Amino acid sequence: MGRQIRLDRFLTDMGKGSRSQIRQAAKKGRIQVNGQIEKQTDRKVDTIDDIVTLDGSRVPYQTWEYFMLNKPQGVVSATEDRRYPTVVELLHGDKRKDLFPVGRLDLDTEGLLLLTNDGELAHNLLSPKKHVDKTYFAKIEGKLPEDAIEQMAKGMRLKDQTPVQPAKLTIGKLGSVSEVFLTIQEGKFHQVKRMFEALDCQVVYLKRLSMGSLFLDETLQPGEYRPLTQEEIICLKNSQEKRTIRNSDGQKNNQKAGRESKIGEKAGGQGLVSSAGAFAKESGDF
Ligand code: URA
Repeated sequence: MGRQIRLDRFLTDMGKGSRSQIRQAAKKGRIQVNGQIEKQTDRKVDTIDDIVTLDGSRVPYQTWEYFMLNKPQGVVSATEDRRYPTVVELLHGDKRKDLFPVGRLDLDTEGLLLLTNDGELAHNLLSPKKHVDKTYFAKIEGKLPEDAIEQMAKGMRLKDQTPVQPAKLTIGKLGSVSEVFLTIQEGKFHQVKRMFEALDCQVVYLKRLSMGSLFLDETLQPGEYRPLTQEEIICLKNSQEKRTIRNSDGQKNNQKAGRESKIGEKAGGQGLVSSAGAFAKESGDF
C-alpha cells in the first residue's frame, strides 16, 4: 500500500503534463486506472497498488527521483532564473516539477550536481553538521605557500576573516597553473575560490568530483546526466551513519560516514589518494 493521491497529481508528478493537460487526456479516454477508463482526475489513487496507464502505457509512480548531472559552465544551479538556463532545464523528456539541485555550484563551476525531489537527503548532504565530504578539482594561478596543506588542514580564515573548517588539500601538479584537489565539508558561498584567495591564489577552473559517497560518472560529458543507480542511492543514504576516523594528529574521532575517496586515483592525479575525512577533527565544532 502506498500513498493516496489525486490521479492528476500522480500523473503531473511523473512529468506527464500539466493538470489541465491531464484533464484533457482524461476527457479523451486516454487514462485508465486498473484497466478502466477514468475521466475523473480528482479521484484518489494508490501510488503503489493502483495501475495507472496513459495511452496504454503503464506509468509507475516513483516517490523519489535522483539524477547525477555533470553541470556545464554557464548554467545556474537553480530551478528558475531570468538570465541563464537552469540545471533543471537540462533534464529532458518526462520530468517532474519538484526536482531541485542539491546545493549550488557557481555559474562557471562544472561537475557533479545531484538533482532530486528528496528534501531529507538533500538536507543531510548539505548540513555542515553532517560533515559530508565534497571534493573539487581546481586549476589555480599564483604561488601556493609552502604550508598551504597545513593551513587548510588546520582550518583557516578567509580574507574577510570568516573561519572555515579544516580541509584536505592534495597537490597534483605545481606550475604557473597548478592542479589541486580540495575536500571540504561545508558549502559557504564561493568557498573553494575564497579559500585559495586567502592564500593569494586564484581559481581559474573548478569542477566538483564527489559529494559523500557519490562520484561524478566520468562518462558524462558536461550537460549530460543519468539516474542514480540503486547502489548509489543506498550508499548515499547510508553515508549518514557514524564511523570512526582519525584526524591529522592520528586521534580517533567519531565522524559521519563517507567512503574513502579515491579522487586522486580516479582523476589520474599521480596516485594521490585523498582519504576523505582523514583530516577531520572533532565532529560538530572544528
Ligand atoms: N566553491 C566555489 O568557490 N564555487 C563552487 O561552485 C563550489 C565551491
